[in-house]
Amino acid sequence: METKGLTRRFGEQVSVNEVNLEVPEGKIYGFLGPNGAGKTTTIKMLLGLLRADAGTIRIFGQEMPGHSLDILRKVGSLVENPSYYGHLTGYKNLKILTTMLELPDRRIGEVLEIVRLTSSANRKVGGYSLGMKQRLGIAAALLRSPRLLILDEPTNGLDPAGIQEIRHLMLELAHEQGMTMMLSSHLLSEVDSIADEIGIISGGRLVYQGALELLERFGRRVLRFELESPEEALRLPGLQGFIVERDGNMLSIAAEEGSVPQAELFKLLGPYGIMKVQETGKSLEELFLELTGKGGSL
Ligand SMILES: Nc1ncnc2c1ncn2[C@@H]1O[C@H](COP(=O)(O)OP(=O)(O)O)[C@@H](O)[C@H]1O
Ligand SMILES: [Mg+2]
Repeated sequence: METKGLTRRFGEQVSVNEVNLEVPEGKIYGFLGPNGAGKTTTIKMLLGLLRADAGTIRIFGQEMPGHSLDILRKVGSLVENPSYYGHLTGYKNLKILTTMLELPDRRIGEVLEIVRLTSSANRKVGGYSLGMKQRLGIAAALLRSPRLLILDEPTNGLDPAGIQEIRHLMLELAHEQGMTMMLSSHLLSEVDSIADEIGIISGGRLVYQGALELLERFGRRVLRFELESPEEALRLPGLQGFIVERDGNMLSIAAEEGSVPQAELFKLLGPYGIMKVQETGKSLEELFLELTGKGGSL
């Protein structure tokens, strides 16, 4: 699934600004961004629930919304808080959907099994916990055996145990059933251990997209050497090509791109009396906050 230049305005505000998403098939894509960043607006456009002002969307190689009927048959989704009939059981709620979608009733049992609600199938949804309701929403999204599952903040409002359960479920669906999955969250910690790829949106703009490990590497790119003779070391031609800052006996060295070649620097600076070495850098969480702060970008 991919978008090119996807844009949506509300009045003067550009809520989604030329976003180019690339969601790889069979992978879990974490769509991250603080509240108001444009996640739901983007997702609604992907699902044809909202018109885009500019840009294109391709899902399974076909254009949205031109081929929406074809595409949406293969897409399951959960956007914002789904509503249920509280006075009906979980089973009955799904039964309404299978009737509408003309699906065989055996799917109900199957999806309830997947989200582990079988034993609560005959209880009224009004008595379900938030986590159970969320799982019922995912069950509903799974009814049509989608190839692509799009979940907007599926763990929002859940307690740690509930979050854990949903994460487990995502992994299972992606790895055992080969489903492509896109899930949004405003918290990095909710997707960091399960997403293969992430996209970070901030103020409507995609500020990072790629593997999580790659982002992690950006965070660990400064080595601080405490030296006996920092003055002389500063003049080393070998340090050209690095970003070097001196603060007293301390030299902070960063690579212009990627990670710092530690071994090389040790060899280079050895003769200048290394007293202490520290690897400083930012945690993923700090990077995320920085990126989603004002105008951050890598
Ligand atoms: N229907 C709407 N009318 C006006 N503004 C909207 C509407 N929907 C969303 N927005 C605005 O677009 C921005 C992005 O919202 P949203 O996509 O819901 O963000 P997120 O899901 O990341 O929290 C917000 O500033 C929000 O106020
Ligand atoms: Mg939202």
